[in-house]
Amino acid sequence: MDIKSIEKIVSLSKRRGFIFQSSEIYGGLASTWDYGPLGVEMKNNIKNLWWQDIVTSRRNVVGMDAAILMHPEVWEASGHVQNFHDPMVDCKNCKARYRADHIDLSEPCKRCGKTDWTEPRQFNLMFKTSLGALADSGDEIYLRPETAQGIFVNFNNVVNTARQKLPFGIAQLGKAFRNEITTGNFLFRTREFEQMEMEFFIDPKDAKEQLEYWSQERLNWFIKLGVREDKLRLRPHDKDELAHYSTACYDIEYEFPFGWSELEGIADRGTYDLDQHNKHAKKKQTYFDQQNNQHFVPSVIEASAGVDRAFLTCLVDAYREEEVNGEQRIMLKLSPKVAPITCAVFPLVKKDGLPELAENIFTEIQSEYSAFFDIGGSIGKRYRRQDEAGTPFGITVDHQTLEDNTVTLRDRDTMEQIRIPVNQTLSELRKKLQ
Ligand code: GAP
Repeated sequence: MDIKSIEKIVSLSKRRGFIFQSSEIYGGLASTWDYGPLGVEMKNNIKNLWWQDIVTSRRNVVGMDAAILMHPEVWEASGHVQNFHDPMVDCKNCKARYRADHIDLSEPCKRCGKTDWTEPRQFNLMFKTSLGALADSGDEIYLRPETAQGIFVNFNNVVNTARQKLPFGIAQLGKAFRNEITTGNFLFRTREFEQMEMEFFIDPKDAKEQLEYWSQERLNWFIKLGVREDKLRLRPHDKDELAHYSTACYDIEYEFPFGWSELEGIADRGTYDLDQHNKHAKKKQTYFDQQNNQHFVPSVIEASAGVDRAFLTCLVDAYREEEVNGEQRIMLKLSPKVAPITCAVFPLVKKDGLPELAENIFTEIQSEYSAFFDIGGSIGKRYRRQDEAGTPFGITVDHQTLEDNTVTLRDRDTMEQIRIPVNQTLSELRKKLQ
């Protein structure tokens, strides 16, 4: 896949209703995207698969859902007010703005070709807003730049209610906001995005082992999403790359058309966050070790992934162009677990009772799987539309159905069609999806 492929993905996303540009009828808002009917289904599938893997299937991880708006002291304590910034430079000639660590300042500006830079300045990435109607500087608050702090400030609440013993995790999924200096590569870097984060609280002596464990677990999750294994890698951070709170970190990276880039960070945050809140907040948060009869601050291994980056990865990884009988076929080879529609149902023609028969099959499938009923256009066109939507299975009701009560079941990847009895459509799908 070359760099142009991202444009093809943007175009397919719009054509099929995965992603639209935000506020498009007003000219759009830069690097801000809306999920359309197919997009939201696929995004929900990814989020549900994460929740299932991290929370539901584990005894020692619980979930929560904190507010986006938090007390401003949280961000003083977490270090984000002090440290969460990127160096920014402007081209004095054309006013283009760049992240200073993304360019070489001895080189000319990519936009105008002049070499006339401002001094690098630090730019805090947190979005500010104000609380209440009579806003003054005392009412300033932030949109959260990570969901993690909502977990740290609730540590005591969860420990006291969820009856968990170390080691245990708290997970949450939700929006985060960063006023990024440069955005781009479609959904990859935006100012509003969603995170899937888990903070796993441990005895500090187990940090190395738990960091290795979670890095592997998280890499495996992307493989379970159907992402090709040879396009994924785990990369340890160099010391100078580490965030202000972390002492060791692995990135899970995917080989995008624009190069290897981060999907998720698995970091050893030590006792940094709870220590900081213990310094700043009115209430102390510690864990009571019954065996040794003492309170202590546990360490944390964090697994922090971006929903939108996982979504983009699935799209990019699944995109295929093939030639079939002299025609181009574009297909998303999405895992059936991720695909927005599991099965499409087509009556071959709009007469002879075929639509009614197809409707019945559709209703039955819809009771268990996400299904789509399509009656418009030639059958070939209808298949092509579903190939582009990544729909793994298609059922066609034709004249033979009237004679022998069978329908065709088409496989997206092989385009093979088999005939199955009408009353076995659902069980056949179940078998295939196992
Ligand atoms: N709590 C730790 C934390 O927030 P991070 O590496 O800054 O760590 C975690 O972010 C993940 O969130 C990233 O790996 C990425 O998937 C996603 N993410 C971060 N900034 C993003 C942005 N501007 N647009 C889209 N996703 C982003």
